[in-house]
Parts: sequence; C-alpha cells; structure tokens
Amino acid sequence: MPNVLARPLTLPCGAVIPNRLAKAAMTEGLATAQGVPTPALDRLYGLWSDGGAGLLLSGNIIVDGAHLERPGNVVVEREPDAAMREALARWAGAATRNGNHFWAQISHAGRQTQKPVNPHPKAPSAVKLGLPGGQFGQPVALTIAEIEEIARRFAICAAAVKEAGFTGVQVHAAHGYLLSEFLSPRSNLRTDRYGGELANRARALLEVVAAVRASVGPNFPVAVKLNSADFQKGGFAFEDSLQVAAWLEAAGVDLIEISGGTYEQPRLIGVEGMEAVEEQKVVQSTMMREAYFVDFALAMQEKVSIPLMVTGGFRRRAAMEQAISAGGADLIGLGRPMCVMTDAPAQLLAGLEELPRYENQLALLPSWLSGLSRIKAIRPLTTFAVMYWYYAQLEELGRHGRAQPSMSVFAATRRVMAQQKQWFAARGAS
Ligand SMILES: Cc1cc2nc3c(=O)[nH]c(=O)nc-3n(C[C@H](O)[C@H](O)[C@H](O)COP(=O)(O)O)c2cc1C
Repeated sequence: MPNVLARPLTLPCGAVIPNRLAKAAMTEGLATAQGVPTPALDRLYGLWSDGGAGLLLSGNIIVDGAHLERPGNVVVEREPDAAMREALARWAGAATRNGNHFWAQISHAGRQTQKPVNPHPKAPSAVKLGLPGGQFGQPVALTIAEIEEIARRFAICAAAVKEAGFTGVQVHAAHGYLLSEFLSPRSNLRTDRYGGELANRARALLEVVAAVRASVGPNFPVAVKLNSADFQKGGFAFEDSLQVAAWLEAAGVDLIEISGGTYEQPRLIGVEGMEAVEEQKVVQSTMMREAYFVDFALAMQEKVSIPLMVTGGFRRRAAMEQAISAGGADLIGLGRPMCVMTDAPAQLLAGLEELPRYENQLALLPSWLSGLSRIKAIRPLTTFAVMYWYYAQLEELGRHGRAQPSMSVFAATRRVMAQQKQWFAARGAS
C-alpha cells in the first residue's frame, strides 16, 4: 500500500511540507528569564528535526512578556536586538537541519497568564478563569488601542522569526488563550466592535492574521490553531468554528490546525474539566475514539478547501492513515509521544504500528487514592501535575539529550514547581 503519511503536502502559499507528520506545539519553558532562546532549545529541536517530522511547531512564543503562557517562554515583543536575532537564528538552524519545516507558534496568554507572572492580566473582558486554587488573577479588559498594539506585535514577531530562518508561523487562537478568549461569548462580554456577534468576536483574530500576512508576504506559510469548540455551555461552539474557518480561508491562511478546549475544559489532551463537557453537533465516525477532533475536521473540510492539521489523541498509524485517506486531515499533529520518542515520525514512516500512550500510565495520585480525582476540584491539580511530567521530559531532552520516562509525576511536579520559583526569583533580580 502506498504510504500516505510519506506524501508531501503543498500549501496554498506554495511551500511544501515533506510528509504528513507534524510535531504539535509544546511549550518548552527553556528560554532565559528575559525570553531569549537557549542552547537547550537548539538541542531539543535538533533532536526533533532528526526525528523525521515534516513540520515542527515551536511552543508558545509570546508577544508580551507580561502575558506568558508559562515561565521560560520565548518572548518577542519588539524588533529583536542582535543577541535575540542570533539566538532565534541558532534555534531555527538546529530545528531545520533535516530539511523539515519549523514554524513559530505566536501567542498571548490573556487571562490564562499565571498570577505570579501577572496578577491582573489583560483579556477581552474582566471575566476570571473558573478554576480553584488561586493560580490565576482577576483580568482587566483591553482597550481598543491595546488590541491594535497586540496585532502589531504579532506582526513584528512574525517578521522577526522569518528573518531568523523559521519557515512559517502559526497564530495561536485555541485553548483559551487571548485570541480564543475573544472568540468565546463566555469570556468576551464586550459591547464594542470586538464583542457581541461572531463577526465581532472574530475581529481580533482576523486583524492579527491580516497584520501577520502583511508582514511576512504572500509566499510564507501562515497557519492558525483553532478550537473545534470550547466544549463549554454557552462557549465557542462548532458551528462558530466552521464560520471562523471560512473567514480564515478568505483571509489567505495556509493551514488550520484543529484542536479544542481550554484550561477550564482541557479537551485538547482528552481530559474532562470541572464542568460537564458540552457535546457538539457533529457526525461521529469510528476514528473518533482515538483522535479527539478528526470528526470535526471531516465536517470542516466540507466547508473550506485549505489544508487541515488535526492534533490530539493520534497514536495508531492506521488511524493516521485513515484520517488522511478519508480527507479528515492533511497533516497529523503529534504531541505527548514526542516528549519521549523524539523520532516517532521516522518510526511511523518505517512501519511502527502504534505510539506509546503515556497518558494512560501517568497519574499524580497512587492507585489507592485515584478515587480522589473524581472530586471535581482536584481534577485541575492532577491535570497540571501530569503536564509537568511532560515538561520535565522536554527539559531532560533539551539539557541532556535524553528523556527520563521512569521519573514519577510527583518528582516531576516538585521539580517544575521549584524551577518556576527560581525563575521568578531570577526575573525579579534582573
Ligand atoms: C507538555 C505539553 C505542552 C503543550 N504546549 C502547547 C503549546 O505551547 N501550544 C499549543 O497550541 N498546544 C500545546 N499543547 C497541546 C498539544 O499541542 C496537543 O494539542 C495536545 O498534546 C494533544 O496532542 P497529543 O494527544 O498528540 O498529545 C501542549 C501539550 C503538552 C502535552
């Protein structure tokens, strides 16, 4: 059988992705306290470049240091100075050394900025994140001038990474960060031209996309990561996502990556939040059980003709091949398996049947306490702790070139929390 995963993909702008496997964006936390990329990032992305993916997406690169998604994010909030230019170029060089694409995921964390980074982050409206634990502060609504400034910064960042040798950009409009907050009627209560009907809620995203396109020109890949839905009652729904996808196509976007969920409802990693999942109207196929969003992509490709990348849950090669063959995806995004098996794409292309499912083995609580995770208020804590295990693997890869999968979730959590403390101390001292 011809290997559909090995087929190149040509994007509307003319760029060619050498195969159908992409490493999805995963925040690395490996920049300096000033947001400059480090040699650990070069090592990590060098490994991934050697690992056979046609496309690597960076983790969140933030356009405002006061709105980090996580301590240790790369920050490009102005025209880069010489040191930043050099660090970005080194990173891009390592990440493309095998001839693959490397795109910058450009982002602003909005109200999902942690409280120690910013106790009063800017957001579309002053609607606080509904999570227990006091980790996130009371947001402040953006002014129109501030929204325009953010679009300008996305464009500056896109031009800077292009100059440094990145081969594309992705605007992050998913997972409950700023642009995704604009899309949701639950977090966007504005009554000006950025709030209300969907056309207004999508305006911030479309202005960012227009500014980015203008800054990189017509031949450079511009992608958007978009939620299929937030899966929350009264939130951004699948029918909204279909409409936004059509607008993005008209705006000249080259690829939409489909994901879903927010910190409040973490469907992106297949986890249920504190409130019930708001089911969406979509025809369910048998592929759904493995890949969380492929049915949404199947329905979306009837509305738009631009390529779709689908990320979340893919582990079996047969499911990936089926998604591509059925038109449900043009690119397959891989996340968690790549935190340990950096050459997962090469192995799949060589015939490996199935990737490891670390998510089925990892838990913060020992099995005799696992019943506690049924308590809704504990769920966010256990979800973050498991994420810290992946963070620790990325750090091991970046600093030492090897993952440490035998590490416990508890040990990883302690380590990441201690590092965050150190990071705040370093930032405070600088
Ligand atoms: C450690 C980790 C970090 C992540 N960081 C990001 C990120 O920076 N940007 C983003 O869009 N998604 C991020 N995600 C979500 C992934 O891109 C992906 O959507 C998710 O892991 C589901 O894919 P998977 O089932 O193959 O892991 C992250 C996921 C993990 C596990």
